[in-house]
Amino acid sequence: MAKLPIIKLPDPLLRTTSAPVERIDADLVRLADDMLETMYAAPGVGLAAIQVAVPKRLFVIDTSDDEAKPDPRVLINPEIVSRSDELRLHEEGCLSLPEVLVEIERPARIVVRYLDRHGKQQEHEAEGLMATAIQHELDHLDGKLIIDFLSRLKRDMVIRKFKKLARSEM
Ligand code: NI
Repeated sequence: MAKLPIIKLPDPLLRTTSAPVERIDADLVRLADDMLETMYAAPGVGLAAIQVAVPKRLFVIDTSDDEAKPDPRVLINPEIVSRSDELRLHEEGCLSLPEVLVEIERPARIVVRYLDRHGKQQEHEAEGLMATAIQHELDHLDGKLIIDFLSRLKRDMVIRKFKKLARSEM
C-alpha cells in the first residue's frame, strides 16, 4: 500500500463531478487500499477518490472510535436511497480544507446503496457520525465542499485564505 498526496483548496479538481466506476479490478482495489492508508495517516474518518485526484465515484470511511477495532469500508458508486426527516448537527472538517470547521445540519439517518470492494451490492442504514460522514463524502463526488454551506462572504474569505497559502507554498 502507498500513501497518496491529498489535494487541497483551491485545487479546481475538488469541484469535479466524479464518474461512475465501470470496473472493480485489481487497480481499483489497490486505489481503495491506498486511500484507506492515506485516510488513517492523515488522520481522518473519510476520504473520497477525488481528494487524491482520481475523479471516480468511490470513497473510504471508518468512523469507529480510536479504542475500537478498525472498521474500514469502501463504498463504490454510492447513492442514498432514503433520508430521515430528523436532522443531525455536526461540526465537519475536511482533509482538503485543513483547519476549517463548518457546522452542518444533515439528515440524521440514511440508507445508502453501493458496491463493496468485491463488486457486491450492499445496502446500509447509517446514523450518527457514520450518516454525516457518508453524506460529506458523497458531496465530494459531486464537487461539493463544506464551505458551500457557509454564507458567500465567509466562503470567499476561506477561499482567499487558501489561495494565499497556495501562493506562499510555491
Ligand atoms: Ni472532505
